[in-house]
Amino acid sequence: MDKNEVLAVLNDWNIWRGEQDTGIGRSVYLDRLEALMGSNQVITITGPRRAGKSYLMRQMVRKLSEHGVKKENLLFVNFEDPRFTSLDTKLMMQIFDVYKEFLSPIGIPYIFLDEVQEVEGWEKWVRMMHELKKAKIVVSGSNAHLLSMELGTLLTGRHLDLTVFPLSFQEFLAFNKMEVSAPLDVAGREAEINRLMRKYIESGSFPEVALSDKKREILLNYFEDILAKDLLKRFRVRKPHVMKSLIKYYLSNVSNLTTFMSVERFLHASSDTIEKFAGYFEDAYLIFFLKRFSFKIKEQEKSPQKVYAIDTGLCNAVGFRFSENIGRLAENIVFITLKRKQALNPQVELFYWKDVHHREVDFVVKDGLKVTRLIQVCWNMREEKTKNREFRSLAKAMKELNIFTAAIITEETEGEENLNGNTVRLIPLWKWLLAEENL
Ligand SMILES: Nc1ncnc2c1ncn2[C@@H]1O[C@H](COP(=O)(O)OP(=O)(O)OP(=O)(O)O)[C@@H](O)[C@H]1O
Ligand SMILES: [Mg+2]
Repeated sequence: MDKNEVLAVLNDWNIWRGEQDTGIGRSVYLDRLEALMGSNQVITITGPRRAGKSYLMRQMVRKLSEHGVKKENLLFVNFEDPRFTSLDTKLMMQIFDVYKEFLSPIGIPYIFLDEVQEVEGWEKWVRMMHELKKAKIVVSGSNAHLLSMELGTLLTGRHLDLTVFPLSFQEFLAFNKMEVSAPLDVAGREAEINRLMRKYIESGSFPEVALSDKKREILLNYFEDILAKDLLKRFRVRKPHVMKSLIKYYLSNVSNLTTFMSVERFLHASSDTIEKFAGYFEDAYLIFFLKRFSFKIKEQEKSPQKVYAIDTGLCNAVGFRFSENIGRLAENIVFITLKRKQALNPQVELFYWKDVHHREVDFVVKDGLKVTRLIQVCWNMREEKTKNREFRSLAKAMKELNIFTAAIITEETEGEENLNGNTVRLIPLWKWLLAEENL
């Protein structure tokens, strides 16, 4: 490529000559990214496909410019642009040279490298630029790639990571033109919020899906894309049909207990293959597994795990029976909400709890060494039998884990119950979601 060709590509992605589309602001991530950028580390933005990583970077470019950083000190490169031909460190060097020559930045520029995993050896270049203090660097890419060895080796101890998740409920409301940023905003709008919550459960939380009328179509596309690009191609899978069936199996079994052995029988594949594939799904942020809480590590490792998906819309798109299983999807949403928080506070650990009498509590939250919360998701609390069962499980877990409060997340039941002198709070999902997001 010659200079002018490189410059032409750069011009299209930068704000030097005009605005770039930055979509709807996601201040939680933007603030976090800004704080991380105050460090002298390379920032890596990872997360599930289509979660909004590229948009976040563009929002950051805009914010910096609004805060007085000169436009010529901001460089954004999208390595997925098909006009870039040979994707190697030579190209990275050339881009930087062209940028310096034509824009003449003064001082240390900010460089945003999107889809950086496309470039062979990118981490060497980034490390060199970082060590020589030639730029403040933010990189992002599809996680299945970024997470691999590249980051682990050359950038160890030199990068801070930000994981971007699809929309939280509050963000989802904002994407649906409902700003709820203080408790008072809710008053009188409960019915509308409830309606949007059902939509959130049904079509999920991917930003593009939230904004589009063609939800199912987009979701099916995402599914095929993740399968083809992040999994089959990336890992050179020899049994694509097994992998596809396994993802579908997990997506339709969210909130259930599972073992690799139990799936073995169903899929006619060895449990080793299943475990390996499951690891790939986790790397791609598609499927998550939750371990059982136990003080004994061995017991924890041996117990079945619960399975959750990144997005309930994906579950529905590939054949989950929505109306029959809304409680399980609600549980999935609670899990992802906890996971989203955990990504911002890595010392938090999540588990489920179960005893020998099959009493179960959906989530145990551990913060550092201490168990801090017990959360049960029970969609329908109207029947006395269900209610008693949930209370019995919680009572047992509270006693065993020595914790005096717990919450039950419901569809609409609200209140407080006294359980052997301890308090159990019943709270509808939408209220819990907004409260979790600090409202
Ligand atoms: N903040 C936002 N406002 C409006 N739309 C958004 C926003 N974030 C994401 N989107 C929509 O979602 C789509 C995917 O977002 P984006 O390209 O940023 O995701 P990504 O995480 O970079 O995905 P990939 O891993 O495929 O590169 C965008 O094309 C856009 O339609
Ligand atoms: Mg992107």
